[in-house]
Amino acid sequence: MKKLYIETLGCAMNVRDSEHMIAELNKKEPYTLTQNLEDADLIIINTCSVREKPVSKLFSEIGVFKKKRKAGAKIGVTGCTASHLGEEIIKRAPYVDFVLGARNVSKITKVLEKKHAVEVATDYDESNYVFGEFRTNPYKAMVNISIGCDKQCTFCIVPVTRGEEISIPSSLIIQEVQRAVANGAKEVTLLGQNVNNYGRRFSGNIEGAQNFTELLQEVSKVEGLERIRFTSPHPLHMDDAFLEEFANNPKICKQIHVPLQSGSTEILKRMKRGYTKEWFLDRCNKIRTMVPNVAISTDIIVGFPGESDADFAETMDVLEQVRFDTLFSFKYSPRPHTAAAEYPDQVAEAIAQKRLAMLQERHKEIQKESMLSQVGKKVEVLFEELKSDGRVAGRSNEGRLVYVSGSEELLGKIKKVEVTEAKLTQLFGVVV
Ligand code: SAH
Ligand code: F3S
Repeated sequence: MKKLYIETLGCAMNVRDSEHMIAELNKKEPYTLTQNLEDADLIIINTCSVREKPVSKLFSEIGVFKKKRKAGAKIGVTGCTASHLGEEIIKRAPYVDFVLGARNVSKITKVLEKKHAVEVATDYDESNYVFGEFRTNPYKAMVNISIGCDKQCTFCIVPVTRGEEISIPSSLIIQEVQRAVANGAKEVTLLGQNVNNYGRRFSGNIEGAQNFTELLQEVSKVEGLERIRFTSPHPLHMDDAFLEEFANNPKICKQIHVPLQSGSTEILKRMKRGYTKEWFLDRCNKIRTMVPNVAISTDIIVGFPGESDADFAETMDVLEQVRFDTLFSFKYSPRPHTAAAEYPDQVAEAIAQKRLAMLQERHKEIQKESMLSQVGKKVEVLFEELKSDGRVAGRSNEGRLVYVSGSEELLGKIKKVEVTEAKLTQLFGVVV
């Protein structure tokens, strides 16, 4: 059997794209996955281009692939960097056999047939394509609900690499969820760059759910499905109907990502985020009031062009007020084809670095308190991994990592756990 080495960078959508590639390859001929580069007949790197670092690393990394690969092994570059660099990748690294952009995933077997194939059209529509089945985690399934993004946040390259937003018909989504559940999944994560904008555009006339709240209602009717998560939503589209559904639908896990980006309304305007600091705080307060045990995560960018000390203080203020349970924080990285890269008032690296450290330090204290407050509580955990030291790991409904001692009998089951100890990112407890 042929062997496939696949490295996946970036977001959950890339992880799902990699699963789709594996499934499509297997439709044609069976591959086994290998962690060993030297053994592989096919080497794929599924790239991310959201920040600059991974792009510059790409060429040194594929250079290593070239050196280590066995004779005749093919190398493919896929994902967002493939989309925006396209043919340039083959010009700079002619030993690359094919380049396959995001939203061209269904062409994976086609690009294998032709040396130096480049398929990177960002207007290619895969919204009605039914991919083969391949899932890394038997208990938790990822299901795409839309492709692309129409938002054009001025810092973000994703609309350039993943193109216009198209929603996948709910009939296909429901079929996929049913298939995953039939194969043992208890939990589904609905994926899109902007999930709660679902229904913005379909290709053709579509029956069924027309917006995200309706889609959540439809998905939650799937029998045997116990948990629903979704990522990423946009704060602007968190209307009251959506929040009601989030709070009151018992299948929806009480974990939500509310990407802030900046706490300064002025900076939010320059980012074209479409909401103000006040709107963001109002949404988070409403979520915390409706769902007292909710876990809120966020994304924050520091050092966006024009960000002053006063603007950054607004971000720190939101951090204090919302007390996020999880924070993903980044220094602004100028990206090609984005408006903010051309803004004249870029922030010095040293200042951005200082702000990032301040933000992360304060968040860590908040996170510690939030995790400690879990001790003594009972949480519901879906167990998914047996560790070598006799512990079993899973995620609580609110998305926290929980360990208990136990055996493989727990795998795939949801159990109540009393939390006895907390570390910064892990909880420990006993099944009750
Ligand atoms: N809606 C997407 C966002 C993709 S980018 C999603 O589903 O996750 C993920 C995060 O990377 C963004 O929320 C933002 O905080 C960060 N990011 C995007 N572009 C960036 C840039 N140019 N510099 C630094 N961080 C960036
Ligand atoms: Fe990027 Fe903004 Fe869309 S962050 S993915 S342009 S919602």
